[in-house]
This record gives sequence, structure tokens and C-alpha cells, in this order.
Amino acid sequence: MGKVFDWIDNVFHVKKPHRRFLKRAILPDGLNYFYCLGGAAFTSYLLLLVTGLLLSMYYVPSEHEAFSSIVKIQREVHLGWFIRSVHKWSATFIIVFILSHTLRVFISKAYSKPKELNWVIGALTLLFAFASGFTGYLLPWDQKAYWATEVGTSMGGTVPLIGKHIVYLIRGGVDLNGATLIRFYSMHVLWFPLCMSLLLWAHFHMIKRQGIKVNL
Ligand code: HEM
Repeated sequence: MGKVFDWIDNVFHVKKPHRRFLKRAILPDGLNYFYCLGGAAFTSYLLLLVTGLLLSMYYVPSEHEAFSSIVKIQREVHLGWFIRSVHKWSATFIIVFILSHTLRVFISKAYSKPKELNWVIGALTLLFAFASGFTGYLLPWDQKAYWATEVGTSMGGTVPLIGKHIVYLIRGGVDLNGATLIRFYSMHVLWFPLCMSLLLWAHFHMIKRQGIKVNL
């Protein structure tokens, strides 16, 4: 494998300009399995992206076809049930891993200076992960998804003064209908993954710069 890479490097000279990316600071002593939780969350995130991209080839974000396209994925598309299951389980595990990772960071007091900004970036990532779960839940467009989202979105209405406007903004109208479905689909497959990818890039960039804090 090394020989193949050396041969490619001979032709394209890839190593030298990318040395900055390939070289990593040596990890500190005292790390244990709890320091893998962030990596486990990231693995779930990558699984979500890959399976989500595959699902988007068959899912139809329309009031009339969303439910039947999910039934088709489940029953007719080759390995569709499997891809959908991996997507759903990864969505569950990412929350479990992020929350445990947050607890690990909290216990090792890695939220304190100079890492406070990375804590905030992490917290924003968590909010996007929750929002992705919420928007994804509506997409099957079955009774459970519809009424759960009806209840979830109506909670925005409890905000004093601007509550009505918040509900209108989230639903794309007064009622929950096809406009909401398209809005949620757009958030779920475009806006949120884009924001999360940018936040994670910043998160990892800071870890590379600041290293990992071990509380021995
Ligand atoms: C999808 C979400 C997230 C991913 C993929 C992720 C990934 C990672 C990874 C790979 C590390 C390196 C060390 C380790 O794994 O323990 C790390 C460190 C860190 N994370 Fe996250 N993280 C996420 C969410 C969060 C959240 C929600 C917070 C806090 C609210 C947070 C705060 C931090 C901080 C402060 C560090 C530096 C820790 C240290 O120096 O020991 N992260 N993250």
C-alpha cells in the first residue's frame, strides 16, 4: 500500500502541500475510551449523510407522494429498508453520543478558557442535531409524524407576543400542510447539514489548534 502511495506521490506530489493536514500533534497521555465519544458522534454524522443522500434518491417531498415513497423505499427499493434503518438508528445514536461527549467535556472541565468558544460551537451543533431530528420526524408524513409535529410546532405559540408569528414561520402558514413538509425537507436535507458541517469544521479546527484537555 505504501509503495502504491509513494508511486502516486512521485507523479502528483501530493504529500508536500498537504503535510500541514497529514501531520497531527501527538496525543496527550491519559486519554481513555471516553475521548472517543466525539469521534463516535462524527461517525454517526457521516453515516447519516451517506444514508440520507441515498434516501433522497427515492423520497418525494410532496403532500400526496411522501408517504407512498417511504412505503416504496421500505418494500420495493433494493436494500431500501436497510438504508432507512441505518439512517434512523444513526439519528438516535448521534444524540446519545453527543450528549455523552458533552458530559465527558464537562467532567474534564474542557469548557473553560481557552476552549469556551469551542464549547459554544459544540452546543450549537447539538441544537442543529435536535432540529434535524425534529424536521426528519415529519418526513414519513404518516399520522404519528403529522400529529407529533402539530404538537411540537404549536409549542412555539406559547412564546409571549411573537408566538403566533413563530408558529407561522415554522409551518410556512397557519396550518401544518404540504408547505410545512417542503419547508422541513429543505431544512433537513440542505440548511441543517450545511450549518452542521461548517460548525464541525470549526470544532475540529479548534481541537487541532488547541489540542485535547486531559484532566488527570
Ligand atoms: C456532532 C457533534 C459533535 C462532534 C462530532 C464532536 C466531535 C469532537 C471530537 C472528535 C473531539 C475531540 C475529543 C473527543 O472526542 O472527546 C471534540 C472535542 C470537544 N468538543 Fe465536541 N463534538 C460534538 C459536539 C459537542 C458539544 C455538543 C459540545 C459542548 C456543548 C462539544 C464541546 C467540545 C469541546 C469543548 C472539545 C474540546 C475538549 C478537550 O479539549 O478535551 N462538542 N469534539
